[in-house]
Amino acid sequence: MSGQNEWNERYADQHLVYGYQPNKYLKQELAKLELGALLLPGEGEGRNALWAAKQGWEVTAFDASDVAQAKANKLFAQNNVWVQYHVTDILHFASNHQFDAIGLVYVHLQKDIQQQVANKLTSMLKPKGVLILEMFHPEQIPLTSGGPKNPAMFADISELKDLYKNLTIEELRKEEIELNEGLLHRGKAIVIRMRAAKP
Ligand SMILES: C[S@@+](CC[C@H](N)C(=O)[O-])C[C@H]1O[C@@H](n2cnc3c(N)ncnc32)[C@H](O)[C@@H]1O
Repeated sequence: MSGQNEWNERYADQHLVYGYQPNKYLKQELAKLELGALLLPGEGEGRNALWAAKQGWEVTAFDASDVAQAKANKLFAQNNVWVQYHVTDILHFASNHQFDAIGLVYVHLQKDIQQQVANKLTSMLKPKGVLILEMFHPEQIPLTSGGPKNPAMFADISELKDLYKNLTIEELRKEEIELNEGLLHRGKAIVIRMRAAKP
């Protein structure tokens, strides 16, 4: 599976390397929506799923890393929440359901699969469903606060507009923020935040 060993090694640390708190932008935007079915692709150790499930979202999550899944399931059990969490590559994830919201948080993919994934996520949204995305901007590459170093694993603002051209983009901007998300996302960072809805 794409990058599974690398991610398993990263998650071998007993701590939650991206912390316990949900991503701030995802939390802020989900809080504006009515509760429903939420999909979290590339959900890692479960911080976003935990928060969303506690709010009453019906959460489905997946990740390529089985080590991440084990840590996430432990976190859910400790907090008495139920999350359906699969181990699968994003290219192979399939569901009979459509979702009211999808949260794509720091899931950096190779350029050659970005359109295929964008099409898949778009098709998995219900009409009026909302995609909330945060990822590093290409200008993050020289910074040390997290993210990949390979330029082929980024998308810029115009590429995102194109990737998600079948959604109505409600918000899409580059932002300089102070990241404080666990051990691996910390310090000044240049990110992209996007909210887009299915017509
Ligand atoms: C930087 S981490 C972010 C984790 C989580 N979204 C969060 O906010 O804490 C990126 C995650 O994407 C997952 N990932 C990367 N490529 C993937 C792929 N092709 N299929 C499924 N998961 C993938 C990794 O395993 C990793 O857990």
